[in-house]
Amino acid sequence: MRRKLSSFALAVLVALATAGVAAATNGGFTPVQPESPNASHTQTAYYVILGFTSAIFVLVESVLVVFIWKYRSRGRDRTVEGAQVLGHTRLEMLWTAIPVLILAVIAAFVFYELPSIDSAPAAADPIHITVEGHQYYWQFDYPNRARSIGTLHVPVGAVVDLKVVSPDVIHSWWIPALGGKIQAIPGRTNHSWFRAEAPGNYEGQCAELCGVFHASMLATVRAESAQAYRTYISKTAAATIGQQEFGGVCATCHGNLGQGGYGPAIANNTLLIQPAALAGILRNGVTGTLGAMPPVADTWNKAQLDALAAYVKKHIYKPAPLGATSGG
Ligand code: CUA
Repeated sequence: MRRKLSSFALAVLVALATAGVAAATNGGFTPVQPESPNASHTQTAYYVILGFTSAIFVLVESVLVVFIWKYRSRGRDRTVEGAQVLGHTRLEMLWTAIPVLILAVIAAFVFYELPSIDSAPAAADPIHITVEGHQYYWQFDYPNRARSIGTLHVPVGAVVDLKVVSPDVIHSWWIPALGGKIQAIPGRTNHSWFRAEAPGNYEGQCAELCGVFHASMLATVRAESAQAYRTYISKTAAATIGQQEFGGVCATCHGNLGQGGYGPAIANNTLLIQPAALAGILRNGVTGTLGAMPPVADTWNKAQLDALAAYVKKHIYKPAPLGATSGG
């Protein structure tokens, strides 16, 4: 008995001593610092619920400990039964009514907060962005038809309305500092919004298991000055799209230099200098006994395919030494 008690005490001490470290790695029990109004309202609801549940937890556990101590056997024989109690109407009414009341308060509060989480402020004139979840990258369409991959550029302080779609499987758009998750579902259009309150990069990640590279499906929202945003969508996006495509789409499987990874090495594959054949593979994917490649570019326009062809020809393709066969 004594040994059990001391190992229990040791376990409790270790848990207490390491709790800080465990909490520090992921922010502990608290959501990330909200940087958009909808994220703030979500956080408020979170803390209200946390308040109720923590109070109930402390109450129940304290009563449990008190009862264990107060009604311990005190050496009574195991076969002797304790005092028998049958029913207590007032107590039973109370412990039914109080939880119902607590749940009603929580539900009312959540429904009170919901409109400001769900919908953007009515007065705002939003920037409309289409967010396409794709195995295994995010593609963004801006109002002027510019596109970017992986990083969404927005002006700081502007309301951004998101139309979230997917051509393949279900993904989930989630930038924690900028609001809740919203699923990208094939065949339907979901909506979300945010307003980044401060300049900076907000990181997120696909939140729905969508295939082998789900974990690599990262997203960044870059909130910058209105001037920088305009420059980005009018010039930079198009000028860098080939690089964005290789880095955000191809490199996931084939490595940053095309050296191979989960997918085969492609750096000295002559397909890289045959734009038409390359476009065919990118648009239709590959199915084969050696492995499959998803049709990563099935929603790309010609400019995007051309940009990728130009990029890989210039930066990735390395002719194989004479006599060597090109890699798969
Ligand atoms: Cu897309 Cu997980």
